[in-house]
Amino acid sequence: TAPLDVHKGLAGVVADTTAISEVVPETLSLTYRGYPVQQLAASRSFEEVAHLIWYGELPDAAQLAAFVNRERAQREVTRSTIGVVDRVPDGCHPMDLLRTAVSSLGAEDPAEDDNRRESNQAKAEALFAKLPTVIAHAHRRRRGLDRIAPDASLGWSANFFHMCFGEVPAPEVLRCFEVSMILYAEHSFNASTFTARVVASTLSDMYSAVTAAIGALKGPLHGGANEAVMKMMLEIGEPERAADWLRNRLAAKEKVMGFGHRVYKDADSRVPTMKAALDDMAALTGGERWVRMYEELESAMLAAKGIHPNLDFPAGPAYYLMGFDIPMFTPLFVMARITGWTAHIIEQLDANALIRPLSAYTGPHERPVPAAAA
Ligand code: CMC
Repeated sequence: TAPLDVHKGLAGVVADTTAISEVVPETLSLTYRGYPVQQLAASRSFEEVAHLIWYGELPDAAQLAAFVNRERAQREVTRSTIGVVDRVPDGCHPMDLLRTAVSSLGAEDPAEDDNRRESNQAKAEALFAKLPTVIAHAHRRRRGLDRIAPDASLGWSANFFHMCFGEVPAPEVLRCFEVSMILYAEHSFNASTFTARVVASTLSDMYSAVTAAIGALKGPLHGGANEAVMKMMLEIGEPERAADWLRNRLAAKEKVMGFGHRVYKDADSRVPTMKAALDDMAALTGGERWVRMYEELESAMLAAKGIHPNLDFPAGPAYYLMGFDIPMFTPLFVMARITGWTAHIIEQLDANALIRPLSAYTGPHERPVPAAAA
């Protein structure tokens, strides 16, 4: 038989169609439902972008008001889910806690296995409303602080900061945060979204698909990179040491987190917008040394390997300057990507085909099982 054509890592494989977002690496373009992300980040709230990702259009005033009301009304999570989360061992990574929380939210939803479109849309909105509450709880728990309940008088981002820090920051900080959420929201068939679609394709439930996606996002080659970037920057310490540090790292054949991308080879379309948000955060907080270190690392990497930074590179230090602990960075990514994941789960189910690729076998040829020992 002819050897099978193996596409390691599914690189270059077109696995299905999607109408949610389009990545055109040649023109450094990323659009959600046709709108460039840079323009969305400059002018729209994350609630509006979430609506766009799920329903295909930006909301009009009445649609936005109705969605905002639904979101604010369902932020609270049950004591049962808080209890499950609180039994996860202290010191675990907050992504473990979040994965457990989503599993618990599914177990307590009577409509968990109802895969009708309306039911899944309602679940997507509920996850969008509830995940910040769980993540803020995780943030305070690791600092040994009591939980702060959601405040329905505040917008989605402002409420999240309130639940984490007990106060709402300056509007400029909220804006940088929303920009990061909008840029992180959706990115076609990335590893975690594809994971969610694989699970959905078996006609399992949305919570199972999201739980699996959280597991996929946790890895440092994917969402975990934003944490790794900040750990690296703290290890480097001073911008003046950055270029030497990077060259030593490359000489040791080690990867530098926050650089490179499977799809973008000539720069990540989201980076300039997030770098501008990082610059704003640095100016607001006096954190310019992280910007200088960013720029040193970026030029040293381009000179050494011609590899560009990806979105996680500016997002890591931006979240640091917003006051989040490093292990919270990937959960922040989840708060945003929940929109893309759930939109893809719904799209998968609209025209489902079980995702089940082939493998090229490389083990021993068929052989008889030896007689069992008497
Ligand atoms: N540092 C050093 N070398 C790199 C890097 C990097 N970050 N990225 C790619 N390369 C080199 C790699 O060593 C290889 O070189 P060679 O051909 O000499 O062996 C070449 O570039 C191709 O790399 P690859 O890993 O085979 O390419 P890929 O398409 O599988 O990689 C990637 C994509 C994201 C896994 C990789 O660039 C990487 O590991 N980056 C670091 C982790 C990271 O920042 N991930 C975030 C991704 S984007 C946002 C997100 O999803 O969160």
